[in-house]
Amino acid sequence: MKLAFSEISLPKRGSLAVAVFADNHFSATAKEVDKLTNGALSRAITTSRFKGKSGDLLEIIAPTGLEVSRVILFGMGEAAKVTPLDMEKLGGSLVKKLNGSGARSVTVILDDFKADVRTSDAAASIAAGAMLASYRFRKYKTAAEEETEPTLTRMTVSCKGSASARKAFAEIEPTIEGVFLTRDLVSEPANALYPESFAARCQELTELGVEVEVLDEAKMRRLGMGALLGVGQGSARESRLVVMQWNGATGRKAGRKPLAFVGKGVCFDTGGISLKPAAGMEEMKWDMGGAGAVTGLMKALAGRKARVNVVGVIGLVENMPDGNAQRPGDIVTSMSGQTIEVLNTDAEGRLVLADALWYTQDRFKPEFMINLATLTGAIIVTLGHENAGLFSNNDELAERLFDAGKQTGEGVWRLPMSKAYAKQLKSPIADMQNIGTGGRGAGSIVAAEFLQKFVNDVPWAHLDIAGMAWSKADTPTTPKGGTGYGVRLLDRLIRDHYEGK
Ligand code: BES
Ligand code: MN
Ligand code: ZN
Repeated sequence: MKLAFSEISLPKRGSLAVAVFADNHFSATAKEVDKLTNGALSRAITTSRFKGKSGDLLEIIAPTGLEVSRVILFGMGEAAKVTPLDMEKLGGSLVKKLNGSGARSVTVILDDFKADVRTSDAAASIAAGAMLASYRFRKYKTAAEEETEPTLTRMTVSCKGSASARKAFAEIEPTIEGVFLTRDLVSEPANALYPESFAARCQELTELGVEVEVLDEAKMRRLGMGALLGVGQGSARESRLVVMQWNGATGRKAGRKPLAFVGKGVCFDTGGISLKPAAGMEEMKWDMGGAGAVTGLMKALAGRKARVNVVGVIGLVENMPDGNAQRPGDIVTSMSGQTIEVLNTDAEGRLVLADALWYTQDRFKPEFMINLATLTGAIIVTLGHENAGLFSNNDELAERLFDAGKQTGEGVWRLPMSKAYAKQLKSPIADMQNIGTGGRGAGSIVAAEFLQKFVNDVPWAHLDIAGMAWSKADTPTTPKGGTGYGVRLLDRLIRDHYEGK
């Protein structure tokens, strides 16, 4: 879909969308259009549930008095309370509605309104939401599907000061390109996306100025990454560790410690010898959602030339049962030197992250380290699909993440950590075991305690995104499939706090 910005003027063709505020207060353009159509808008409203609430939409087909094919009224709610996130959702809902109607082009007119958010920024957010909603993962469809094919090919957002809107959108667009990369990676099946091919996708980011290194198994063995390698040893596909660096800080800040992001990249998780049940196992193709988010974030930052130094490290493995697979009861030695008794081969993400986290803090001494992982089914029991679980050893970092979540709609909710939970990981014969003794109790927290043993007191946060990486239903800005969760959250965190001018 093409997105454009223009000054306000009524279009002659296509569809027209106009704003209505709370309690059906018409915007200037809505008033004008109501007059031109001899009151069609007012009449339509009186025979519907439309109230001008944020999220309300009302479609009027082929109104007389106008040349456009349809008018869509969109609710803005109370002007003073409008947020950029509302506007994103609006852009997304409009795209969904218009694709459902079979419309080809639309002009969205946003008259000036009084709020904390500038009208031009609101216009840019509408475009951003529209772009997010227009994403499709279609590479494996060999034939067009009439009913579901998106029809909308062009959206023009019109407002006063459209040049500022265009500029604001240009600043958001690379972030959305990053989201799209994450969605692509997460949606790929595991026969196409495995450690080596994933690493090859990362290498494409060199075009944007990202430095990419790929560590193979021999290299990881020399580094002592026994925990990560143990997970991958049953797979015909070799494991990989990818290190991506974006050094965008300039001037006095050029030599700064990097921010580090670490991702779980289990390209398929069968559970290993502790095999998962058959039903739903196909979902484990997206057990690399953490690594996908880190990769998309790197693309976003490089794409918009963020003035910050960032390193992204992803541990890529496939967890398979096999004659050579890791057995329950095996003891592995991690890069940190700590030994781990692997009581359940399905608790593999933490083993991958153990070495990826240790390596990252050891090599880069980062300002902070944030890892993302589809780590536990238990986090879905706790938080559903509304928030990722947040675990941290640093209150400031946790609060900044919470705030970024509020702004982007990529929510996080902090859960507790303490020695009492960590105790569950005591092993009779190794330094720790990879599952707790508490059965199903507090599974996500115990997993976080395990990770913390490998962060070496660096300010750290762990995001358990098992409930967020994939969506079975459309939302206004996220078509079903890989969501791209995490990219906007972390991009916002960096924009707000770490890009010193
Ligand atoms: N990848 C899974 C967690 C998961 C489950 C992600 C559902 C997305 C949806 C993880 O590797 C796993 O298997 N965790 C186990 C841990 C248990 C063995 C301690 C779990 O959650 O059951
Ligand atoms: Mn598992
Ligand atoms: Zn897993």
